Amino acid sequence: MQKEKIQELISLALEARKFSYSPYSHFEVGAALLAKNGRVFTGCNIENAGYTPTNCGERTAFFKAVSEGVREFTAIAVVAGPAGTKGDLAMGAPCGVCRQVMMEFCDPGEFLVIVAASVEKYEVYTLEQLLPCGFGPKDLGM
Ligand code: THU
Repeated sequence: MQKEKIQELISLALEARKFSYSPYSHFEVGAALLAKNGRVFTGCNIENAGYTPTNCGERTAFFKAVSEGVREFTAIAVVAGPAGTKGDLAMGAPCGVCRQVMMEFCDPGEFLVIVAASVEKYEVYTLEQLLPCGFGPKDLGM
């Protein structure tokens, strides 16, 4: 994937992070999910007083896309860090639950996960690297 496209996705994830609803952890996450049709779906983490209903930023982006009929994806950029962080964020890779959701809709050898601290500082992984031997629809014969 071209550097310009990666940086555009990171910028959109940084914008989405501004909407993070995280009054309990104060850990703000933003994501930008690129669909194969060219559309980008953004997401942020949405916490809950009951804690477990919390939705991660990555899954928010996926569920927005799937709920609009889009199921094929190329890449996701993720940015994460404590509220009020000045300068570079930490490199926050997606949690296991989000990796499993990616596994449902993405080819693990092709789908790219961009973990970014800033538009300049990022790392690109395939889903397969983050979730080796992942269990997915193929394992159920689909
Ligand atoms: N979080 C995400 O949004 N994505 C991840 O991959 C890891 C964790 C959120 C959940 C919760 O709102 C906060 O970060 C602290 O765990």
